[in-house]
Amino acid sequence: MPDNQHILSSPYSQIPAAIVSLADYETHALPMLRTDIREYIDSGVADEITLRRNRSAFEQIGISPSLLQDFRQASTTTRLLGYPLAHPLLLAPVAHQRLVHTDGELATVRGAAALDTPMIVSTLASYRLEDIAASGHPNLWFQLYWQHNRENSLALVRRAEACGYRALVITLDAPVNGLRNRTQRSGFRLPAGVMEANLQGQPHPAPRPLDAHASVILNGFMVDAPTLADLQWLQANTRLPVLVKGVINPADALHFKELGLAGVIVSNHGGRTLDGLPSTIEVIAACRQAVGPDFPLLLDSGIRRGTDVFKALALGANAILIGRPQLHALTVAGALGVAHMLKLLRDELEITMALAGTPTLADIGPQSLLNLASPQTFAAFQPSL
Ligand code: FNR
Ligand code: LAC
Repeated sequence: MPDNQHILSSPYSQIPAAIVSLADYETHALPMLRTDIREYIDSGVADEITLRRNRSAFEQIGISPSLLQDFRQASTTTRLLGYPLAHPLLLAPVAHQRLVHTDGELATVRGAAALDTPMIVSTLASYRLEDIAASGHPNLWFQLYWQHNRENSLALVRRAEACGYRALVITLDAPVNGLRNRTQRSGFRLPAGVMEANLQGQPHPAPRPLDAHASVILNGFMVDAPTLADLQWLQANTRLPVLVKGVINPADALHFKELGLAGVIVSNHGGRTLDGLPSTIEVIAACRQAVGPDFPLLLDSGIRRGTDVFKALALGANAILIGRPQLHALTVAGALGVAHMLKLLRDELEITMALAGTPTLADIGPQSLLNLASPQTFAAFQPSL
């Protein structure tokens, strides 16, 4: 039996002419996907308050253009972790990509490489991190989900180091597997053809007996969550720069800076973890204020337009990550789709910079924005740098 029976439609070999935005990719992708897979990808947790806010908060922010700027030295380039970046865009870690395309991450990495875009490979990828690295993409990062204990976690990190991953992202807003599934209405299970390829053969710790009155969640699952000591141990045991993903609270951002981490990804996991978290665009300025001007701050959750990227940069992000749209693009047209999706977003960012009068990323700041919720003031977005 073929192991991709869950994939209902073949991807297009050409981009449909009607696709001119990331939202168009979503519209085209959803009918191509099995219902449970579509829900797994697009849904948020619980009442989806955070998921909705990830979009609506961007709509509260306007752009305040400055006309007649000089674009002769214009550029979108920046540096991240010491490496040059053509545009301030990365692919977020997104698990299980064989759910939507037979080649899964192997196709995504080709699309990312074509557009010179770093890709953060998930612990839960459907292909082995070595096979993804064999694509030759020069700027891959590895995202670690803590694996019950130090030994299992370090084994993954060593593999990523050995095949040239440049950075390690540890996701802390979903600290253990299992909490999310409990809150999902669709009761999603991975189809037979989709494996957690990097975790095959990993020894499983023996189940821990719980007292009759103990909480399965608090005393069961959460006992496997990484601690501060584990994070510091990880830092001490890898030569890779370590970033934390899933930060919302500015005090946490500062704490991670003080621990000597390489950066922080301000994220609410695309509204998939704790419903009621604010959107990241609402907290990025406070996070920037907490950590000062030089500490790398990345942002994801809800970015769909070049104008969203612009707003995130204006409020203090150094770069942004794209989550779900990479799966939508992969569904529709494989590697070609991923490359085209990234190109659309780049073009939109450049058009925004052109029309807002900001020739370089350094020109984009709080002064480029207007708080539409109270248009008479810029106060909410006053310079925090
Ligand atoms: C994710 N995300 C995620 N994050 C992570 O650290 N490790 C992972 O394996 C995954 N897997 C994953 C699967 C799917 C289907 C989705 C939609 C998301 C979260 C992801 O990295 C990112 O934070 C959000 O997707 C960003 O929000 P947008 O761009 O999807 O709105
Ligand atoms: C998710 C996990 C895999 O968001 O991070 O589905």
